[in-house]
Amino acid sequence: MVKKNSCIFISGQGSNLKNLIKKSREYSFPINITLVVSNKDNAPGIKYARKYSIPYLIINTKLRNYEEKILLFLKRYNISIICLAGYMKIISKKFLNKYRKKIINIHPSLLPKFKGLNTFSRILDNKEKKTGCTVHYVNDKLDSGNIIVKKSFYISPYDNEDTLKFKTQKLEYLAFPEAIIKIFRDN
Ligand code: GRF
Repeated sequence: MVKKNSCIFISGQGSNLKNLIKKSREYSFPINITLVVSNKDNAPGIKYARKYSIPYLIINTKLRNYEEKILLFLKRYNISIICLAGYMKIISKKFLNKYRKKIINIHPSLLPKFKGLNTFSRILDNKEKKTGCTVHYVNDKLDSGNIIVKKSFYISPYDNEDTLKFKTQKLEYLAFPEAIIKIFRDN
């Protein structure tokens, strides 16, 4: 099958990046991971790009035109889809317009609940019965684009922020690949 070129944006650990790299090596998975972009030069996740010999771009977001630089690379690598996997920067409207309906994000809650940061502490404070993760299209409002895949689990009385994160990420490793398969099946 002809796979589409994709770019993964990260800022941190990169466990979703690692998972997507592994999935992309399966014959029937619709994308190749062609490029990794990190806005942090010390993001631990960059090691996966190195390990699997994937070109990566470390971008200095203090530069006024840093998004234009990213756009140049996306063009150079003929990128069809961008996956935000723990990328902690807001994407400008101008950038979004260039990749309309082609940028997806994974969020550690059942959207539209708990948009934004510190989700696990807020979920516990709110005494939620269930939580999970959501893969959605990115638009110009925070964590608000159309939902592609959502996965949930029941919270136990023994859960804390660490166990919630662990359980949520286990679901993320299923949800992100599933969302990508769904996008290419439907389009
Ligand atoms: C994920 O849990 C995701 O929900 C959130 O950021 C985290 C990134 O984790 N947006 P990792 O860097 O993929 O390990």
